[in-house]
Amino acid sequence: MPDDAIQVQGIVKRYGTMRAVDDVSFTVAQGEFVSLLGPSGCGKTTTLRMIAGFVDPSEGMIRIHGRDVTHLPPEKRNLGFVFQNYALWPHMTVAENVAFGLKLRGKSRSFIRDKVEEALSVIGLSGYGDRLPRQLSGGQQQRVALGRALALEPQVLLMDEPLSNLDRALRVTMRRELKELQARMRMTTLYVTHDQEEALSMSNRVVIMSKGRVEQIAAPYELYESPATSFVADFVGITNFLEGSATGTGGGFVGVKLASGQMLRALARTPVAEGDAVRALIRPERVTLSATALDGDNVLTGRVMLSEYFGAVLRYSVRLDSGDVLRSEVHNFDSFIGNDSPVWIRALPEHLRVIPREGQG
Ligand SMILES: Nc1ncnc2c1ncn2[C@@H]1O[C@H](COP(=O)(O)OP(=O)(O)O)[C@@H](O)[C@H]1O
Ligand SMILES: [Mg+2]
Repeated sequence: MPDDAIQVQGIVKRYGTMRAVDDVSFTVAQGEFVSLLGPSGCGKTTTLRMIAGFVDPSEGMIRIHGRDVTHLPPEKRNLGFVFQNYALWPHMTVAENVAFGLKLRGKSRSFIRDKVEEALSVIGLSGYGDRLPRQLSGGQQQRVALGRALALEPQVLLMDEPLSNLDRALRVTMRRELKELQARMRMTTLYVTHDQEEALSMSNRVVIMSKGRVEQIAAPYELYESPATSFVADFVGITNFLEGSATGTGGGFVGVKLASGQMLRALARTPVAEGDAVRALIRPERVTLSATALDGDNVLTGRVMLSEYFGAVLRYSVRLDSGDVLRSEVHNFDSFIGNDSPVWIRALPEHLRVIPREGQG
C-alpha cells in the first residue's frame, strides 16, 4: 500500500543453520500502532533490529515510506528507537541526553535548545532538564529515553519491550501515557512485547510470532475472538480446546463430533472438510454453566472437578462426559456449585471457533 510507513517483505535472518526469523512479512500504516507479540526467543527483537538497521537480513526487503532501506545504515533510516534498558548516559543531564542525537546531526545550539524543551514538555518532564538520570525514577528515565527518540522527530518509532523493566503499577500507567502520546502525535509505532495485555490494549493490530514465523496478524478483538491457530488461541488468553471431527459443514457453520458422540455446532472461520480432525475453541467467559438441566442444541453435560473463587470471578473446571476438561468463568453469581455436582454447559455456535488440528498444534 502506498501509505504504508513500514513494509516488511519475506525477511529471513539465519544464524548458522538456525532461522531466527523465517520469512516474515507485515506492514504498518502511517500513524498506526502495531505490536510484535510472542514468547521469548520467537524472533521479535531480531525482526525489529533488521528494520532498525542493526541486523542485516539474510533475505527479504524492508521499505520505509516506500523507500528500500534493506541495506542502509541505521542513521540513514530516520527511525527512533526505545529499548528495554533505557541506555541513558549516566554522566549527562536529562537535557544533554535528549540533545545527544541532535548534536550528532550537527544542529545549531538554539535549534537543539528548542527541540529539547519541546521533547521534555511532551514527556511531562519540563523543568527536569538539569537532573542526572540517577536522580529520576525508573518511569521518568524511560520517559527520557522516549523523549530522546522523539526529539529527532523520526518518521517511525521502534520500541523493544520499553516497559518491562518497570514494576507492574508503573507499567500500567506508562502503557496508557505512551498510547495517549502516540495517538496524539499520530506517530507510526512498531512495538515489541511478550506481554499480551500490552499488545491487546495498545495496538491497532498485532503480529503474533512463534518460532521465527508469523502466526496471525489481526486487530486485538479479532485475535482474541477468532484465533487462527491453536498457538494463538493458547498464547492469547485462556482457551478451552475440544477435539473432534468435522461433520455436516455448510452455511457458515460446521458440526463437531466429540469423542463422546455429542455434537456441537460452531461458526466456521477456517475452511475444514467433512471428517477432518478439528478443535472447537471456546473462551471460559463464553461458557454458560448451570446446575439445572438446559435443553436445546450445543448443551454438554459433566461434573464440577474444581471451583476457585477470586472475588469478582468464579472459575470452574468441569469434567465433561467426553473426558475433556472445560474451564468456565462466571462473573455474576449468587450461589456456588459444589464439587462433583452434575452441570449443564452451553456453548453458543457464535462463541465456538473451529480450526483444523495441526500436525503438532
Ligand atoms: N546474534 C545472534 N547470534 C545467534 N543467535 C541469535 C542472535 N540473536 C538472536 N539469536 C537467536 O535468535 C532467536 C530469536 O531471538 P530474538 O529475536 O532475540 O527473540 P525475542 O526478541 O522474540 O525474544 C533466539 O533463538 C536467539 O537465541
Ligand atoms: Mg527480545
